[in-house]
Amino acid sequence: MLVLIAAPRGWGAMRVAQERYVSVMTWVEHVRAGRLIGNLLTERTAAQEVRIHAVGPFLLSRYERMAESAEAEQERLATGKAVTEWVAAGLSGLAMAATYAAMFWLIMSGHMSLAVAGTAVIAVRSGSASLGALVMNVNQLHEESLYVRDHSRFLDEAARRTIPRGGDPVPARVRQVVLNRVGYRYPDREAPALDEVSLTLPMGSVTAVVGENGSGKSTLMKVLSGLLLPQSGTVLWGEADLASLDRSEVFDRVALLTQDFERWPAAALNIRIGRPARAAGAEDLQPSVDYAGAGPVIAKLPDGLRSLLARMFRGASELSGGEWQKIGLARTHWRSSTSDADGVLIVDEPTSALDPEAEITAFDRIRRLAAPNRAVVLVTHRMSGVRHADRIHVLHQGRLVEHGSHEELMAARGRYAAMFEAQAAQYAPAGTVPRPGSPAVADPA
Ligand SMILES: Nc1ncnc2c1ncn2[C@@H]1O[C@H](COP(=O)(O)OP(=O)(O)OP(=O)(O)O)[C@@H](O)[C@H]1O
Ligand SMILES: [Mg+2]
Repeated sequence: MLVLIAAPRGWGAMRVAQERYVSVMTWVEHVRAGRLIGNLLTERTAAQEVRIHAVGPFLLSRYERMAESAEAEQERLATGKAVTEWVAAGLSGLAMAATYAAMFWLIMSGHMSLAVAGTAVIAVRSGSASLGALVMNVNQLHEESLYVRDHSRFLDEAARRTIPRGGDPVPARVRQVVLNRVGYRYPDREAPALDEVSLTLPMGSVTAVVGENGSGKSTLMKVLSGLLLPQSGTVLWGEADLASLDRSEVFDRVALLTQDFERWPAAALNIRIGRPARAAGAEDLQPSVDYAGAGPVIAKLPDGLRSLLARMFRGASELSGGEWQKIGLARTHWRSSTSDADGVLIVDEPTSALDPEAEITAFDRIRRLAAPNRAVVLVTHRMSGVRHADRIHVLHQGRLVEHGSHEELMAARGRYAAMFEAQAAQYAPAGTVPRPGSPAVADPA
């Protein structure tokens, strides 16, 4: 009889938990979108456009509509929960009534004395309370397990896509890093971002990668640095396959300055973070500051390298886009200068916000970072910055369509020549450089 009393409550709680789980999963994007709108309305980064374009009322009206539909869902859930709990409580009450009726019958038929029946009533009441608590706890466990199951699924999925931990050590001397017919497709995309890309990066060389927007340059850099594991083909460090190497050792050999590098909240931290485990005072960081031409930027800050750069703190300073890029370059220098092992330095659009003079200096300095133990890979849309690279590769729709030195590629009159001349034509006096048409060489792809 005790089981009959507890079972409906268990069923009810399980049903409510499952409905809540389905609702959370269905509405999670909606909740995120609401939060996103809330943040856009209040964040500093969006403030200028929110004011000038009068985005406030536009976002607020959407927020209101979303809040209304979220409220309707909450109401639906609450109604469903009330009905389920009402049915469960009713069934449980019926079972309780049946229990007391059975006891009454036992007393009247002389099978149970009144004293024993009194004890039985107390036993039923405390027993059903304890069983009820047990059912609730088991049920809570069940509800949590639904989320834990999802979490384990995500972890398995992540593990399948990354270089495993605890692989072989990376050889100290590798001579070159080779990409061999590498293919990569983002899970939500039909077309591959990289398609059978093969290239060799000898230590001590400078390799440039150019191509139109979305051609796969940044993806190639992520594969090269070990952030993304290619779905086909191999990345070889010397003779060793990247997928079999120890993840942390591979990362230790890579210096990466991405297009959207992180802006850390303090000036010195922005450089030190290139190798955070290494103790560094202001004088240790100075060569990196000088390398990146960031001396005047730091000098302007109220506390020099000790200044705060996150405006949520009192007294923090603000930097311009180009000033940030110089700080980013200083970080890359600090990271590369603190390692002697063979490695790769990858810079993805490092000069897009620099003024013309700073840009020329930056390209020159980046090229000089190529050392016997370092291969430099430079991604840029500034064609003037790549002409001195040892080897230039042109990516088009995820495929390498041209490669060679600047002179070879200009002579081939293909995509590279067209891109180079298009930029050169912007600066040449009218009529001196012919405006390029479409590439003369047929696309090998
Ligand atoms: N995380 C991602 N998920 C899905 N698709 C992505 C992701 N990152 C990039 N892509 C897509 O893959 C393609 C290649 O992107 P990638 O960032 O490598 O281009 P890119 O050559 O660096 O372009 P840009 O010159 O604009 O920096 C693009 O079509 C892009 O939309
Ligand atoms: Mg890119």
